[in-house]
Formats: sequence, structure tokens, C-alpha cells
Amino acid sequence: MAKITQRRISREEVAEHCDYASCWIVLHNDVLDVTEFLEKHPGSMELLLEYAGSDATQVFEDCGHSMQARMLADKYKIGTLPDEQQPDQPGSQFVAYAKKLVQLISA
Ligand code: HEM
Repeated sequence: MAKITQRRISREEVAEHCDYASCWIVLHNDVLDVTEFLEKHPGSMELLLEYAGSDATQVFEDCGHSMQARMLADKYKIGTLPDEQQPDQPGSQFVAYAKKLVQLISA
């Protein structure tokens, strides 16, 4: 279930959360606080920490994460990038649509 209390978080603020104590990453314009997820990540904590405080969209897609992984990522969302910091992302509309479908099917 999406949180209603989402806020705009700049890339500069994300960059301040770049270690084990507080680890935020950007994924498809969403800002995620993955601190609690670090030790649970099947692809290792070290890999996630490499991208702490930065944009992990490209590498996340390159690893071919499942739809389940995408739904899981949503749970760690704490906000979105301001409009002027959101790059055009071909395919992101498809991802949003696919997530909606999965939510409907599993409701
Ligand atoms: C919130 C962000 C992330 C979530 C929720 C997440 C979740 C997952 C999950 C559930 C898997 C198991 C396979 C699958 O279902 O796709 C996985 C595997 C993996 N993840 Fe992530 N991941 C995240 C970010 C990242 C990032 C940023 C990287 C790379 C820097 C990464 C690299 C990998 C790799 C390499 C595997 C494969 C592990 C293996 O098969 O041995 N992940 N991830």
C-alpha cells in the first residue's frame, strides 16, 4: 500500500545518507531508505552500500530484478525527487503499469 505522506527529497539530501547507519538510494525517481534492508538484500549488502546516497536505477535494471523485487522496493519509499531533478526514463511508465497490475492481481 502506497504511503500518503511522501515528500520531495533532493539528490543533495539523498547524498547525505551514504553509509550503513543511514542508507538512501534513488530508484526510478523514488527515494528509498534501504537501511533496514541492507542485511536482507539477496544481492549482498556490499553492493547496495556501493550505491548508498546515489542513483542506483541503471544498475538495478542491469541486474534484471524481478517484479517481486520492484514491489519490495516500493515498501522502502520515503519520497520522490523534485520535478527538476527527475530524468526522462524510457520504460518507467511500463514499470508503473506493471506494478499496478500485480497489485490488482494480488489484492
Ligand atoms: C531497494 C532496492 C533493491 C531491492 C528491493 C532489491 C531486491 C532484490 C531481490 C528481491 C533479489 C532476488 C532476485 C529478484 O527477485 O530479482 C535481488 C537480487 C540481486 N540484487 Fe537487488 N535489490 C535492490 C537493489 C539492488 C542494487 C542497487 C543492486 C546493485 C548494485 C542490486 C543487485 C542485485 C544482484 C546482483 C542480485 C542477484 C543476486 C544473486 O542472484 O545471487 N540490487 N535484489
